[in-house]
Amino acid sequence: MGGAARSLSREPRYKLNAVCPYYTMFPLEFPLTILRQAPKGLVVFDPFCGRGTTNFAAQTLGIKSYGYDSSPIAVAIAKAKLAKTSASEVLSLMEEILETDIDPEVPQSEFWAWAFHTETLRAISKLRQGLMDSPESDASIMLRAIVMGCLHGPLNKVVTNPSYFSNQMPRTFASKPDYSVRYWKCKKLKPRQIDVRIPIRKKVALVLGGSNDSLSKFRNIQCADSRQYSNYRSIKEPIDLVITSPPYYGMRTYVQDQWLRYWFIGGPPSVAYEATDQVAHLSPADFSVSLCRVWDNIYNKASEQVRMVIRFGGLSSRRADYDEIFRDSLEQSAADWYVYYSRNAGSASKGRRQADVMGGRTTTRAIEERDYFIRLYS
Ligand SMILES: C[S@@+](CC[C@H](N)C(=O)[O-])C[C@H]1O[C@@H](n2cnc3c(N)ncnc32)[C@H](O)[C@@H]1O
Repeated sequence: MGGAARSLSREPRYKLNAVCPYYTMFPLEFPLTILRQAPKGLVVFDPFCGRGTTNFAAQTLGIKSYGYDSSPIAVAIAKAKLAKTSASEVLSLMEEILETDIDPEVPQSEFWAWAFHTETLRAISKLRQGLMDSPESDASIMLRAIVMGCLHGPLNKVVTNPSYFSNQMPRTFASKPDYSVRYWKCKKLKPRQIDVRIPIRKKVALVLGGSNDSLSKFRNIQCADSRQYSNYRSIKEPIDLVITSPPYYGMRTYVQDQWLRYWFIGGPPSVAYEATDQVAHLSPADFSVSLCRVWDNIYNKASEQVRMVIRFGGLSSRRADYDEIFRDSLEQSAADWYVYYSRNAGSASKGRRQADVMGGRTTTRAIEERDYFIRLYS
């Protein structure tokens, strides 16, 4: 992470951005820098908002924003970033749920038996059931995201001070069941009994412990496929500025890589392989067409001065010219978009997209990212 981004993450008002990791998020500094230079009163939109980094940056500056993502996991995290609640409200809700006598449905399989201690899994299942059964409030949205952030991650060296509920696992994505079980058996790693209150309290202190002066006026995060124009009805004003990063070309596993978090918010207790609302990746042409539909929809909702700032990249495993795919998508659009500036986002991203494998590091990364600054021909 670059120096500026590291110091930002230490500022109390930005701590909430770390409520739950999300694979391939961009650094908060990216939207913040652009938004700080933007005129007052504008309306911002992120059609691929992920964990809501653009929306969170806008919120801290009092700027109205809308965010769409087709992944319910992303939406649950992004919503928490715009929630207005306090540490005590969240902790009271946690206690309330843990103290009820709900008899939750507890998933059973070899994976679950190795991933979590029986008592820990029962408490997590209770929180899951309690949150699904109660009406949504800012405190419940926040508690849900905090639990999602504590679900899996590396074991803490100090046994009495765990940060995560699980046996040794990656933090950013959930490893697949068969692989995980083989790993735990081979390393003879039995799950530890974790009091779920400890990681939750730690996370609450981290993200809500500082100054909580979020303006929290805007809550326009929606689980929506941004290729579908009918979804844009909820955007009430013309869009002035788009800041986004579309899915990387070759990456459509946003839901299945987060399958444990998906289970927590109501998904199945096994890997969710179907992700119908994700942008198509069958071929570069196919991908360009999908992106083009989003640019068309934005154009139909945009103000005359609309600008788009788009960070785009691709996974090293898919050979394609990312610049060409992206420019094709603009060219096919019904609108007269043109790129007035583009730059390599290389050093801003390299090393940051590394995947954790069962807590360790690999060198898997997006090969290159570019930032495109776009407006309409007048
Ligand atoms: C590179 S990530 C965005 C990360 C985001 N900038 C952040 O900081 O968290 C791309 C996102 O696009 C979403 N996505 C893929 N297809 C979509 C679609 N058709 N409509 C809306 N979102 C989609 C994925 O679920 C993923 O969250």
